[in-house]
Amino acid sequence: MVYKLSYNTWSGKEKSALQKVIKSGMFTMGKNVADFEKKFSNYLGRKYSVMTNSGSSANLISIASFFYKKKNFLKKGDEVIVPAISWSTTYTPLQQYGLKLKFVDVDIDTLNIDIKKLEKSITKKTKMIVSVSILGCPTKLYEINRLCKKYNLLHFEDNCESLGAKIKRRKTGTFGDISTHSFFFSHHISTMEGGMLSTDNFEIYCIAKSLRAHGWTRDLPKNNPLIDKKKQGIFEEYKFILPGYNVRSGELNAAAGLVQLQKLNKMIHTRRKNLQIFNKLFQKHDKFIIQKTDDYHSSFCFPLVLKKKNKFLKNKVLKILSKLNIQFRLITGGCFTEHKYSKHFNYTTHDKLTNAKHAHYYGFFVGNSSINLSKQINFLYKALKNI
Ligand SMILES: Cc1ncc(COP(=O)(O)O)c(C=O)c1O
Repeated sequence: MVYKLSYNTWSGKEKSALQKVIKSGMFTMGKNVADFEKKFSNYLGRKYSVMTNSGSSANLISIASFFYKKKNFLKKGDEVIVPAISWSTTYTPLQQYGLKLKFVDVDIDTLNIDIKKLEKSITKKTKMIVSVSILGCPTKLYEINRLCKKYNLLHFEDNCESLGAKIKRRKTGTFGDISTHSFFFSHHISTMEGGMLSTDNFEIYCIAKSLRAHGWTRDLPKNNPLIDKKKQGIFEEYKFILPGYNVRSGELNAAAGLVQLQKLNKMIHTRRKNLQIFNKLFQKHDKFIIQKTDDYHSSFCFPLVLKKKNKFLKNKVLKILSKLNIQFRLITGGCFTEHKYSKHFNYTTHDKLTNAKHAHYYGFFVGNSSINLSKQINFLYKALKNI
């Protein structure tokens, strides 16, 4: 048996949706993208969404959008607080836009930012908090919004790993001034590659629409805060007002997304059933820490962190997994400071990042997916039961 990191969740329906697009001959951003954006906003409970070609691009456009707001905008040199564990492209746009990052350690039981340390790390220079809910486990978003209000900070919510997670019935991905999602193969829904930026702020929505496609005015609604679009004429559509990119999604991706969105609740239900099996088996394991939360976990993958620093045991575990064809990875992207790319960043750390480093060196994750993985999880447990 191979226990994979992720499994294909497409059926005939996604393939027929793709065939329909192919038949139409219209491949570039059009009505499927618009429809998917609308339905995704409805699902999430946000006013506006902008689809991109990946979650990383959604992050890039989000950070750029904060720079072009008329009020309470970001500027070069502003300090931004970030959790020490996330994916590389949570951080990359911050570096590219000249922001100063401050890393805060994670809570070892959730792998999300340590909320007490987060408040202590806020200074007069702080302008934004970046929140990340790791692997489907909601970070303390109500508290983060309370801090943002108290200290007048922007909130960027990278929810790329936690679509469908909830805190007290409110979905993660609805707390930040902007939130983002990824639809890469292994994620809660897959559009091959794809991402989404969502917001309730009309100005940000318009800026993001322009930045997504060349910085032009063409995709802006008639009444928008950026430019007077009442004048008609083709040249009015090709006015370039912002230093933008081209990170649009194609129609094929959006057509698959529309089908996947219909299946999402059911797929999360299956992921959570797998999580129950995993938790039941591993919660009493004396060597591992697993994620613990009272909130609604949408279970992207299953992280396992050794309780003690023990290189010998870690190598032994990884050897067993490799031998048995159980695929594993570093938890999200691991601890930022432990990667070479950190030397390109302007950053400080609030403290020693002890837990993030521990998870980096003594942790890994195995896959979850929206198919029944009971056999695979039991197989994994049997392999690690007596280590
Ligand atoms: C937290 C986080 N942010 C951003 C991304 C980037 O998403 P994508 O792979 O769609 O570019 C990922 C990818 O898994 C992620 O885990």
